[in-house]
Amino acid sequence: MISVRFAGAVAVLGAVCMFAPFAPSQPPKPKTAPKLEPVAETKLLMEGLAEPNFKGVGKLLKDEMKDPEAWAFARGRALLVAETGNLLMMRPPKTRDAEENWMSHAIGLRDSSAGLARELAARDYVKSRAALAAVANHCNRCHHAFRVATRVRPFPEDEK
Ligand code: HEC
Repeated sequence: MISVRFAGAVAVLGAVCMFAPFAPSQPPKPKTAPKLEPVAETKLLMEGLAEPNFKGVGKLLKDEMKDPEAWAFARGRALLVAETGNLLMMRPPKTRDAEENWMSHAIGLRDSSAGLARELAARDYVKSRAALAAVANHCNRCHHAFRVATRVRPFPEDEK
């Protein structure tokens, strides 16, 4: 009995399929990739992510760290600065020229911070300090290009 009913259902389905081309057709759904959408203001990324992590690495590098956990913590902070570079790429200014300029600064921030993270992972004090200064240059270059008055300094304590 069941198999007869089943056969019947298949037959009905088959008929539906046969007429399918004549049924009102729906446009195929485009396969949309999940889209990145900026949520926070750039200013918030600067104050909440870039600056505290950048300053945090500077403080940790004031003196050579003895504790491996401190090096690991500093590496994590550097990587969060690097991720800020990725997030900045979602927020370019509107004009095309400005966009290219912005992207290159965001990439510079990401790559220099990833480089810093590598030196911190290797626990190389001298190279880590140099790498943090290189990150600061990338922060300042973008600020200069986009007329942001903020100047960041890698080791403000040393300047006193
Ligand atoms: C790709 C460009 C770009 C890079 C790279 C960049 N910034 Fe910024 N930053 C901006 C812009 C644009 C503003 C102004 C945001 C606003 O006021 O809307 C800003 C503002 C700031 C401010 C001031 C926020 C305030 O309260 O007004 C600080 C602090 C700051 N950035 C820190 C940093 C640090 C630290 C780095 C590097 C680790 C960095 N920025 C890298 C574009 C950049």
